[in-house]
Amino acid sequence: MKFKALLPAILAIAACTTNPAGKNVPVYLDLSRSVEERVADALPRLTTEEKVALTHAQSKFSSRGVPRLGIPEVWCTDGPHGIRPEVLWDEWDQAGWTNDSCTAFPALSCLAATWDKEMSLLFGRSIGEEARYRKKDILLGPGVNICRTPLNGRNFEYMGEDPYLAGQMVVPYVKGVQENGVAACVKHFAVNNQEVRRTATSSNLDDRTLYEIYLPAFEAAVREGNAWAIMGSYNLYNGQFNCHNKRLLLDILKGEWGFDGVVVSDWGGCRDDDEAILNGLDMEFGTWTNGLTGAASDGYSNYHLANPYLQRIADGRVGTKELDDKAARVLRTIFRTSMASEPHFGSFNSPEHYAAARRIAAAGTVLLQNNGILPLNVPDGGKLVVIGENAVKKMVVGGGSSSLKTNYEITPLEALQEAFPAADVVWERGYVGDTSTSYNKVDTGQDLTDSRSAAKLLSDAIAAIEGADAVIFIGGLNKSGGQDNEGTDRADIILPYGQDAVIEALAEAVPSLIVVNISGSPVAMPWADKVGAIVQGWYGGSETGHALADVLTGAVNPSGRLPFTLPKALADGPLKTERQYPGIQEEGQEWWQEYYDEGVFVGYRWYDKQQIPVQFPFGHGLSYTEFEYGNAGLSGKAIGCAGSFSPGQGEEEVLKVTVKVSNTGSIDGAEVAQLYVCPPEGDVERPVKELRGFDKLQLAAGESGTATFSLPRRAFARFDADAHKWVVDPGQWRIEIGSSSADLRTSATVEIR
Ligand code: GLC
Repeated sequence: MKFKALLPAILAIAACTTNPAGKNVPVYLDLSRSVEERVADALPRLTTEEKVALTHAQSKFSSRGVPRLGIPEVWCTDGPHGIRPEVLWDEWDQAGWTNDSCTAFPALSCLAATWDKEMSLLFGRSIGEEARYRKKDILLGPGVNICRTPLNGRNFEYMGEDPYLAGQMVVPYVKGVQENGVAACVKHFAVNNQEVRRTATSSNLDDRTLYEIYLPAFEAAVREGNAWAIMGSYNLYNGQFNCHNKRLLLDILKGEWGFDGVVVSDWGGCRDDDEAILNGLDMEFGTWTNGLTGAASDGYSNYHLANPYLQRIADGRVGTKELDDKAARVLRTIFRTSMASEPHFGSFNSPEHYAAARRIAAAGTVLLQNNGILPLNVPDGGKLVVIGENAVKKMVVGGGSSSLKTNYEITPLEALQEAFPAADVVWERGYVGDTSTSYNKVDTGQDLTDSRSAAKLLSDAIAAIEGADAVIFIGGLNKSGGQDNEGTDRADIILPYGQDAVIEALAEAVPSLIVVNISGSPVAMPWADKVGAIVQGWYGGSETGHALADVLTGAVNPSGRLPFTLPKALADGPLKTERQYPGIQEEGQEWWQEYYDEGVFVGYRWYDKQQIPVQFPFGHGLSYTEFEYGNAGLSGKAIGCAGSFSPGQGEEEVLKVTVKVSNTGSIDGAEVAQLYVCPPEGDVERPVKELRGFDKLQLAAGESGTATFSLPRRAFARFDADAHKWVVDPGQWRIEIGSSSADLRTSATVEIR
């Protein structure tokens, strides 16, 4: 008995090593050992209570470590485009610190619009440095939910309508964040494509749609990006809540994809004791025992993975197998982040970060149409008239959990005044939209009130354009309720606040009106053929105004491409029934039910299939210069790649494609060469074409370069739900390459047998 009692102590001593400093330290503290060795050594040292404490929150954004062993707490922070201001221990409201105003980076729809993996790496590294400096271990972002409906209030936080684009653009971001010893927490897993009743709706869809459209961006983040954390989403998938959805978390994420990190619940997304224990949830936050709505004394021990868990273990109703797996994953996260073997220090509000924000925001700006009025040239002593609320409204505050407190936010008007110091830059409101200026007690300090009538606002704007050298309308959406805002969806894609009428009236009076739409989601542009130029701007963060002015003045040659289709009208889209969106109530069902009846036909896949004309197509974006394409060159052994393979396979390259691209204009610029794969006719209906490659080339005037694409076997595959396999059909395939999904310049055919 004596020996047995001593065994843990003996094992602990045996597990000690003398580290380079010569001190006797336990393996889990020995920075020369691997993460896995340190996890294996730490886990058996923990009591059951200590393991359970690792799996749930102790405050709004933190969970307990193991104080007795010197293992630190885990601190999470929003969001995907900046480090959220510190909040009170158990409140959403900010804590009023004076040292937590961050660099606000562009929202991710802007990053996606750059179609530039280098911008994504720069973004991830920069925001990762800010998170590390603020001593945060898990960054609650990026979000990669597919833009299934233009109405989704959180499209601005996501990366568009195509799973390949979202997947390729999220990988460098994840790597950049994690280089700083901060876990990227990719969200919201999965099929969380709307805000309406997001905590009470089951997304119901077939496996082909799930595997071809809604999983690939998450799969890329995990299997290529090696994401250390994933956030379960509020909704249900096929009838089970996603923060403890067995199919998504155990079968697919941890099973097929071999994910070794932590599954974090969304705040309040954990809804059931037993499922939380058994179905793969590792860290529970924000649960509705007053952990979400308000402070409660010791509300945290009521969490599903707290006392109820301990009670089930004590009663023998569950073992500790699942607990050991959860605790090991949390320890692994700690040893990858706050206890990483190589120290990281990060940086905050650095000039480099503001420069990165400006560069990314400019690179994501999309020139949709230009009759030559851009780039803008206002002579000294000239007059530039700027009209619209979004020329002055600060947008970093608001929108939900991604709202930020930033050191500064340059508005478009300020930047245009800076750009033309010797001109008379006049601003008129044009319309009044949203006059709110605060979120969670963070306030922009602006006063946006205006008592004029709509008619007066318009007549004042029309009067102001007298003698102007150029007129720019800057409008769009904002971060308030019913706009680009977490928790709500829009009701339509028509511009709010009567902006269409203002634009039409201005277009009558101005020969070449320039319209800038600032939004994170598609809007309708019925006046497109009445204006001179149209620019899609985004929520660009601290440097949003400078970035827009850089593009408008030509300081930066626009190279952004649309990450989602701009339809002419909402009704043209694939969601035709309540069943499809926003969901219905069904007899005997506790939750709302939504059916993805459109299957894989979302975004351009739908408009291609129905041959519906759109305002501006997926991948569209102009430049101030022109590009020409040569012929496509193909090499590889695609010919023999027909057949089927299991999920997780098919990564080997089977086809290499190259194409020469030349900048034939007089201005340096960047071209996003896009490659689409077009399958042969078959008995399974497939999209006409699917994006399977893109390459952004920076080309000086007159310079030529070569766009290269490497296609794995998976690039040709569809998912066969019955066989649970990817399948490559034989036949004549077309490879189309061009400047957008609707501007394809060269093609080649591939015979696959
Ligand atoms: C929110 C969001 C999630 C965010 C979390 C913490 O409800 O859905 O994206 O990270 O809760 O704020």
